[in-house]
Amino acid sequence: MPIPKPVASLTGRLQMLDGQQIPQFGLGVYEMSAQETYDCVKYALQVGYRHIDTAERYENEEACGRAIRDFMKETGTHRSEIFLTSKLKINRTYELAMQDLRGSLKRAGETYFDLYLVHSAVGGREVRKKVWKALCDAKEEGWVHSIGVSNFGAKHIQEFIDQKVPLPTINQIDLHPFMRHPEIVKICEDNGILLEAWGPLARAMRFNHKTVKSVAQKHSKDVAQIMLRWGLQHGFVVIPKSVSPSRIKSNSEIFDFEISSEDMKELDALDEHLVTDWDVVDVE
Ligand SMILES: NC(=O)c1ccc[n+]([C@@H]2O[C@H](COP(=O)([O-])OP(=O)(O)OC[C@H]3O[C@@H](n4cnc5c(N)ncnc54)[C@H](OP(=O)(O)O)[C@@H]3O)[C@@H](O)[C@H]2O)c1
Repeated sequence: MPIPKPVASLTGRLQMLDGQQIPQFGLGVYEMSAQETYDCVKYALQVGYRHIDTAERYENEEACGRAIRDFMKETGTHRSEIFLTSKLKINRTYELAMQDLRGSLKRAGETYFDLYLVHSAVGGREVRKKVWKALCDAKEEGWVHSIGVSNFGAKHIQEFIDQKVPLPTINQIDLHPFMRHPEIVKICEDNGILLEAWGPLARAMRFNHKTVKSVAQKHSKDVAQIMLRWGLQHGFVVIPKSVSPSRIKSNSEIFDFEISSEDMKELDALDEHLVTDWDVVDVE
């Protein structure tokens, strides 16, 4: 499958293999309090973001839903213009996956999620099978428009292929120049599964790296903008988190320049398998 070309604007969408589209750029709200979430989601929508990434685990689905509704009311924006993702916290049974999804929808005050992800592969093969069946049925019933996974390793993606079940549209994994997960990226790209980069700023751990700084200088951009643009040019969906209004805005100003293929190669060479948060892609 060809790697998608980066979209041209903040609202630009990529095609997913189920026929739906996802904005390539969005706001992540991990480790935000309810008030921070409300304020940041509202502000991000005001400056043009149309994609919000939350999860049951982040305990801020309610604030995301409330901010989205208030923004829609104030601006006349239609819900279909905004893309909201949440994630299943724990893999247990078919029934509990359905129940947890409905709980997330209720907290968010939504009748559907644009995307619902299995947050990790933890739980074992049989449990994963049951949970995925629940998500497939939830999609059929209209509770979610698209379904995907997160933190799934290559062997977990291979399970879907072997079982001949519908493939996830997305695999959300930690992806940035210092963590490139080549094996996972390859199996996803070969099968038309979009990669979504969590921690696209390496969770602020490499902002002083000289290579990224020098590429940033060349483009009169900051280091965060270079890391995010790198993700876009690789065809990844990127969802940086910030609680600062000025950084929420500057992180989105990455559609007016291009990193040369030479500089992309230099950034590609920085992979050091940097683990910035949890690392569960190899679980049984
Ligand atoms: N599926 C998963 O398992 C998983 C795991 C982790 C994250 N995620 C998702 O991915 C999203 C992004 O990942 P993340 O939040 O872990 O990390 P990230 O976006 O890579 O980095 C966030 C960090 O960078 C700082 N930052 C943001 N913009 C900046 C800028 N322009 N200049 C300097 N510092 C900046 C933030 O601080 P300030 O807030 O102070 O700006 C924060 O400390 C999450 O919010 C979540 O939605 C998913």
